Amino acid sequence: MPVLDAALFRPGFLWGAATSAAQIEGAADTRGPSIWDRFCAEPGRIMDGSNIDVACDHVHRFHEDVQLMRWLGTKAYRFSIAWPRVQPDGRGAWNEAGFAFYDRLIDELVAAGIQPHVTLYHWDLPAALHDDFGGWQSREVVPLFAAYAAEVARRFGSRVKSIATLNEPWCVATLGYETAQFAPGLTSRAAAAQVSHHLLLAHGAAIEAMRQVTRTPLGIVLNHTPAFPAEPTEADRRAARLDDGLNVRWYMDPIFRGSYPADVIEHLGADAPKTEPGDLERIAQPLDFLGVNFYTRSFISTQQPAVPAPGAMGFTDMGWEVYPKALTQHLVRITREYSPPPIFITENGMANPDTVTGGRVHDEARINYLREHLLAVSRAIELGVDVRGYFYWSLLDNFEWNSGYTKRFGLFHVDYATQVRTAKDSAHWYREFIRQHAAVASGS
Ligand code: FCB
Repeated sequence: MPVLDAALFRPGFLWGAATSAAQIEGAADTRGPSIWDRFCAEPGRIMDGSNIDVACDHVHRFHEDVQLMRWLGTKAYRFSIAWPRVQPDGRGAWNEAGFAFYDRLIDELVAAGIQPHVTLYHWDLPAALHDDFGGWQSREVVPLFAAYAAEVARRFGSRVKSIATLNEPWCVATLGYETAQFAPGLTSRAAAAQVSHHLLLAHGAAIEAMRQVTRTPLGIVLNHTPAFPAEPTEADRRAARLDDGLNVRWYMDPIFRGSYPADVIEHLGADAPKTEPGDLERIAQPLDFLGVNFYTRSFISTQQPAVPAPGAMGFTDMGWEVYPKALTQHLVRITREYSPPPIFITENGMANPDTVTGGRVHDEARINYLREHLLAVSRAIELGVDVRGYFYWSLLDNFEWNSGYTKRFGLFHVDYATQVRTAKDSAHWYREFIRQHAAVASGS
């Protein structure tokens, strides 16, 4: 069995953990409503009927949560700013109390020796922008997002170590506007395609605006789920290629090549997005980093019934196949095809049905997942991929979108009745690995 050695990662490789505002913050009464508050209020949308009013109560407990990271030894924290917390209507007045919260959080992180890495949009669109414009379906949201981005960059740019514009635009567009699994819960392929274009445009416009006010590294976070044909048939290969087009190339091509993939445009036909002259140039802004979120692969079968994924390494509590090899392959592939800027693994992790027994959480499956994926990253580095850091998803168990609180991804277990956090065995493992890496890196 291959051994994971901390020396496989160069000194300075960044170890972190990630969260997002809607999933942990709570304190909903101190910000504007987002489309996720609305979505939670619609019967049948969230598996356990829950909402994000309290979540992990992080707004009141961030001090304790920073101490958890300090104990863990992670030197970086990826979190998102809730747009409706700093600008309740998504335009017009800023909420100074909202900015003050992030100001304190950043101070606290810096004081603990933890780098703040900010994401501007992790899905919590101010509800007012949905009411007034239909959310991302409207091009009007693009300059509003750029203005919000510039304001955050102006205030915090000198103290945060990076700013990512969007988290996983594929999820926002496809799950939010086409399959209705996520807010705002619409079911139109044409709308989703238009939304994806506006998201990309908003990304480009935000990068442009932020460059005027900060020198901190700027980038974007994409979710990549590499597609594999189930069988070596022409039909499965074509279907896998299309899946790759929709999930990977639809975002990578415009960002790094300034064009949409022709096969996907053809597939979308009349549903392809309307673009304006200059849009693609605007989207293809030079970036300082690329964030890759990786969880699993897609196993594409055109047979009826579909050929199931083999799952030799098991499936997570989300039903996602554990397939770390795809991470190595994918990182090598995107490096070869796109020559991207330095890469950070901005999310990777698993849901597991964790329970606390005698003050411990025995999540052996997560330790294996973590080890195998770090090994996969180290292989990609050996093969020449420029990966600079790794953020485990997630620091805490939290609100897993339409699964509510039924799925636990955290290194720390959260008891939602008491808000008690308990380090899982995986947290102890990650802590020890980070410690070993620090020791190797310092030559001791
Ligand atoms: C990603 C999201 C993140 C979390 C994980 C499990 O798609 O970015 O918020 O829900 O999945």
